[in-house]
Amino acid sequence: MNDTSRAIALASRLYGERASTAYAGYIQRDPMALLRLRPGRADPYPIYDRIREGGTLVPTRLGNWVSASHHVCDSVLRNRRFGVRLADGGTSSETDEFDMSFLEMNPPDHTRLRRLALPAFSPKAVAGYQDRITRTVGDLLDRASAAGEFDLVTGFAAPLPIAVITDLLGVPDADSREFARYGAVIAGALDGITSLGQARRLQASDAALRRLFGQLFDLRRRDPRDDIVSHLVAAGPDQIRPDEILPMCVLLLIAGFETTVNLIGNAVLSLLDHPGQWQALCADPAAMAAKAVEETLRYDPPVQVTSRVALEPVDVGGKPVRAGQWVVTLIGAANRDPEVYDSPGTFDINRVTTADHLAFSSGIHYCIGQPLARLEATIALRMLAERMPGLSRAGTVRRRNTTTIRGPARLPVSTGAGRRTSTPAPRPVPVGGGAARSLPESGWPAGRPPGRPGQSR
Ligand code: HEM
Repeated sequence: MNDTSRAIALASRLYGERASTAYAGYIQRDPMALLRLRPGRADPYPIYDRIREGGTLVPTRLGNWVSASHHVCDSVLRNRRFGVRLADGGTSSETDEFDMSFLEMNPPDHTRLRRLALPAFSPKAVAGYQDRITRTVGDLLDRASAAGEFDLVTGFAAPLPIAVITDLLGVPDADSREFARYGAVIAGALDGITSLGQARRLQASDAALRRLFGQLFDLRRRDPRDDIVSHLVAAGPDQIRPDEILPMCVLLLIAGFETTVNLIGNAVLSLLDHPGQWQALCADPAAMAAKAVEETLRYDPPVQVTSRVALEPVDVGGKPVRAGQWVVTLIGAANRDPEVYDSPGTFDINRVTTADHLAFSSGIHYCIGQPLARLEATIALRMLAERMPGLSRAGTVRRRNTTTIRGPARLPVSTGAGRRTSTPAPRPVPVGGGAARSLPESGWPAGRPPGRPGQSR
């Protein structure tokens, strides 16, 4: 097939999918389709409730299963008879463009590569990043308070994780914006490729990231430091093959900033929308910041959904799941399961619960970056509350136009202290997905966020 025929084939498939999703959602009121359309992206929680009313494991119109139950989601994610790709190695997606490393692998490759990445995220290693994070948060807040009004997402929530993950990888400071820019385009495809323009941008960003990482690998082979890239390029082929290094770096880059930005954004949005909770944080930021982070992860998690495929026939809660069938595990719904949480729709940073939320998934793919994400968000909220207790919303929130990842793309706030100096407002940084542009309503998430372009389930 030549390029033109390929483009026509892709365009007709994309627009066909959009039309069928719109029909299933708006006309047939199919909840899975609605989640991918404007109503689901604005507020998925009432749709999750509808799915829950159908039972703990519900068939989808495309022949798979979906669950809003905490118990079922947790047990599927932990069950080794499920995987993230089919037993024959295929992922079933026609639009798969990017190799997302061990996020999309089953054991034993998953185990081998995950083991190599883990040390950089151990509690000891993460504690070592504390000063760097505190310094970055301090600098960002200095600029923001001087501006008086700023966009909390591009001026605060996004630059922090970008600075941290590029530092961890060993990207020189001067290059970090470029890495972030191209990484954001790839991250924007988490919900699926939705237009030819997007497909072209993806291709260009993929090429640019390959070039940038290639240069970085050369640099760190010549001049190794104590960073992830230096360790990976020095590892033997029994630990990681040369062609596996780039995908792992891209995974860490995207996972490192695309999720944490939304954790901070969702936290501040929830806190400002519940002034009593914001006041509770400001009354004792050192004690309450970590609690506010945990409640945000439960109440409005940045990653809303993932999925698993049955590698063999499995009985789930009395329902027979056939080999090759997918189970969509709705993390955002599981975190509001009334069987597990009292008043699940209430945002309460003093909540006492014994149940683990599923914001970081469960089982063998449990997020390796969670200690880092928790630390970044806790320091960010603590210092924000200490330095800007008068913070308030100062304009309309714009949400990302995505389903897998949930968070504000734009959150204008006022420090409450007015503009104090002529220091410029923080320079906006790129954020992925709907932050950069409006995506058409199409493309069900691949389901293994931070994942790759997806397909319907
Ligand atoms: C609030 C922030 C974050 C959230 C909500 C989050 C969420 C998740 C979720 C839900 C998964 C599992 C997906 C699945 O089970 O299919 C995951 C996996 C992963 N996350 Fe995170 N993540 C966050 C931050 C980070 C950070 C900061 C990093 C690293 C820099 C990171 C690196 C990874 C990696 C490498 C995996 C794959 C683990 C595996 O497959 O074994 N994440 N994350």
